[in-house]
Amino acid sequence: MISGTLTRLKETTHLVVLTGAGISAESGIPTFRDAMTGLWKNYSPEKLSSAKGFSQDPALAWGWYEWRRHKALRAEPNAGHQTIAKLATKLPKVTLITQNVDDLHERAGSQNVLHLHGSIHTARCFECRHPYEHPETSAIVKFPESRIEPPKCEKCGNWVRPNVVWFRELLPAKALREAELAVKECDLMLIVGTSGFVYPVANLPLLAIERNITTIQVNLTETDLDTKVTFDLKGKAGVILPELYKMAFEE
Ligand code: OAD
Ligand code: ZN
Repeated sequence: MISGTLTRLKETTHLVVLTGAGISAESGIPTFRDAMTGLWKNYSPEKLSSAKGFSQDPALAWGWYEWRRHKALRAEPNAGHQTIAKLATKLPKVTLITQNVDDLHERAGSQNVLHLHGSIHTARCFECRHPYEHPETSAIVKFPESRIEPPKCEKCGNWVRPNVVWFRELLPAKALREAELAVKECDLMLIVGTSGFVYPVANLPLLAIERNITTIQVNLTETDLDTKVTFDLKGKAGVILPELYKMAFEE
């Protein structure tokens, strides 16, 4: 199986990579549905990641995002992020689509990353969208112990919120269009570290599978794509991706 994967990877003219929280797990950022099981149980996604939840308890929601933002600030890209950045130097075209709100892909050297769920490193007013600049310092934030009042908008005085896509909100239209176009054009799609539970992003691999192009999944655990992709590689992204790269381009 591995030799088939390698041949296809080497011959790719347009590679699409889709990543989820699993690629940043080895950098110490908890995924949503594994390490966080306990948390999601006690603090529903609804509460932490929706406009309604934010309005009901802004200090809880802002505390949660500050906890994740500071974790991301202190984290370093891992071998998985680095390998994806290196693939762009070997293949004619690579489009990187991520659901992650951290900037570890960029810090590993990837450019033009399509962030379909926004960025945790920027913020804006809940009402008037005026941008808010985070102070540069990093701090240790604990969750759920740290309840943190969000800052107030300097223009209108309303709460500031993170620049991420919440439940029932639309994805950034331009980035989503570009992502869909890339999936329609590419000749290989690599799907790394995503559970595939959250739509519309979860449709992207299905679109590639419908087109009958080669699809490779890299994931630690079972997902609905296991039986649908061309190659299903089980293990850590930070281990499997460098191995694949080495075998395809260095041996
Ligand atoms: P999930 O937490 O749902 O899934 C993470 C996936 O990564 C799981 O399938 C794990 O098995 C896998 N995984 C964990 N560690 C791994 C490793 N080291 N190597 C490879 N795979 C690993 O994260 P997402 O699919 O990204 O949305 O979640 C999608 C969206 O749900 C997020 O973007 C977020 C959340 O609600 C928003 O915030 C809008
Ligand atoms: Zn405002």
